[in-house]
Amino acid sequence: MLTNTAQWQRLLGHYQEMKSVHMNALFSDDDNRFQAFSLTAAGITLDYSKNRINAETKTLLVDLAKAMKLEEKRAAMFCGDAINSTEQRAVLHTALRNFSDAPVMVDGQDVMPEIKATREKMKLFVDAVSTGKKVGYSGKAFTDIVSIGIGGSFLGPKIMSEALKPYRQKQLNVHFVANVDGCHIQDVLASLNPETTMIMTSSKTLTTQETLRNAETAKAWFLQTATQADVIHNFACVSTNIEGAEAFGISQDNIFPMWDWVGGRYSVWSAIGLPLALAVGYDNFEAFLKGAYEMDQHFTSAPLEENMPVLMALLGIWYRNFFGAQSHVLLPYYHYLRGLPAYVQQLDMESNGKRVTQEGQSVDYDTGPIIWGSEGTNGQHSFHQLIHQGNTVIPADFMLPLQPHHDVADHHDMLAANCFGQSQALMAGQTEVEVRAALESAGKSQKDIDALASHKTMPGNKPSNTLLFDTLDPKTLGKLIALYEHKVFVQGVIWQVNSFDQWGVELGKLLGNQVLKSISDVSSSLDMDASTNGLVAAFRNRK
Ligand code: F6P
Repeated sequence: MLTNTAQWQRLLGHYQEMKSVHMNALFSDDDNRFQAFSLTAAGITLDYSKNRINAETKTLLVDLAKAMKLEEKRAAMFCGDAINSTEQRAVLHTALRNFSDAPVMVDGQDVMPEIKATREKMKLFVDAVSTGKKVGYSGKAFTDIVSIGIGGSFLGPKIMSEALKPYRQKQLNVHFVANVDGCHIQDVLASLNPETTMIMTSSKTLTTQETLRNAETAKAWFLQTATQADVIHNFACVSTNIEGAEAFGISQDNIFPMWDWVGGRYSVWSAIGLPLALAVGYDNFEAFLKGAYEMDQHFTSAPLEENMPVLMALLGIWYRNFFGAQSHVLLPYYHYLRGLPAYVQQLDMESNGKRVTQEGQSVDYDTGPIIWGSEGTNGQHSFHQLIHQGNTVIPADFMLPLQPHHDVADHHDMLAANCFGQSQALMAGQTEVEVRAALESAGKSQKDIDALASHKTMPGNKPSNTLLFDTLDPKTLGKLIALYEHKVFVQGVIWQVNSFDQWGVELGKLLGNQVLKSISDVSSSLDMDASTNGLVAAFRNRK
């Protein structure tokens, strides 16, 4: 078990030394700290100097990664071993963005040909829809795409389309429907013309209740003006379940395969990314893939101590398992990246929110953290107070493009100043002596100073990383997403969990279906627990 390893024990001892060291001291001891604890790879710069570490910490953490056979496990993932042990599947989202000529073998077969064929089919489809060569049932070019999907079949295309807003094609509006709450699909369809709308159902399994219901509702809306024979023109589907798509009435030309060795939260690189490709054009989608490929090359070739995803993962372990951090906050200082925390929430929490090891042994240590966050500078006016003066360690990832997609006055300078100022304040804090001096120079009475000083003191020593990149273009976005995918992978290896199944979501789905029966059939007896019975009774009596 992880906690019995000598490397873990050495980190425990080291933590006893480091827990009382303030980062201010670490910075004053080493003028070169920024250079020593920052790294540039694949065009992204990671400043990790504002962490509660020294050179020994880094060595001990890398030793732990080696002890947990990270390099071997990494090789096993990339070469198609069935590392998703509970589903006996390979994990090959990396193959989807593989632009080398190297084959990738799954069960003795090279999967690259079918991946490349699907990319080509996507390109032809996107070009045909975008240029009006492919038209709706009445012969009109498409103006709107409605993408129906949830979880990884929604978050990826939606959040990446948002992040790449400056690259969107003007002639196509892409809309997303995920929630089974009827407000969502009602709002989206209300303004659309069925003649010029493509309904795209994205579902790896085609068994997800919300997606199936939304697809049926969209079809019913379509059939108010069109006929069943017209469905083949205006409907498309992305799934492993080809038969299910055909049964829905979708033509082969508009069905895009995906594979069971791509997890939902890792699937934006597959045809699940088709709504993104339609939003920004196929060339930009391919650039997105190539950015991820460049990060894959860094991840698989850089020594662990100079490996960006590895360092970010190890720092997360340091705070989660030694400082007891419960969460990790993402602070993208860029409006177009405002969806990133929600994306990484599924990526991280559905991967490492586990309680047993690959071998099924209950863990005796913390695993995946709670991921949260929102765009800067907005968070400064809502939750930053707790990060600054709360009594829990919340490691933060700040991120900022150096070049914005606007030239509005000095807004970007102000955004950058806030990003850097916040991480500086978290690190440095403000001592009571400094607070008292500031209050005295502001002319406050001694009585007021005594009353205020402790309230205004900021402990500092709050850790953060800062990621800098030039422009948030498709390639850079691909690098950033792959960076977080590999960070999650590394942490899963060290925690010895299976990051690629998600059994925890099954019970909720099962019970939801049972409750739906008792809601739909009002004559049925309420034989569930008292709370659920009470809630269903109240719902039944709502009318
Ligand atoms: O939340 C469970 C889950 O299976 C996710 O992993 C997945 O992204 C989502 O539901 C949607 O699944 P599907 O693409 O099969 O509809």
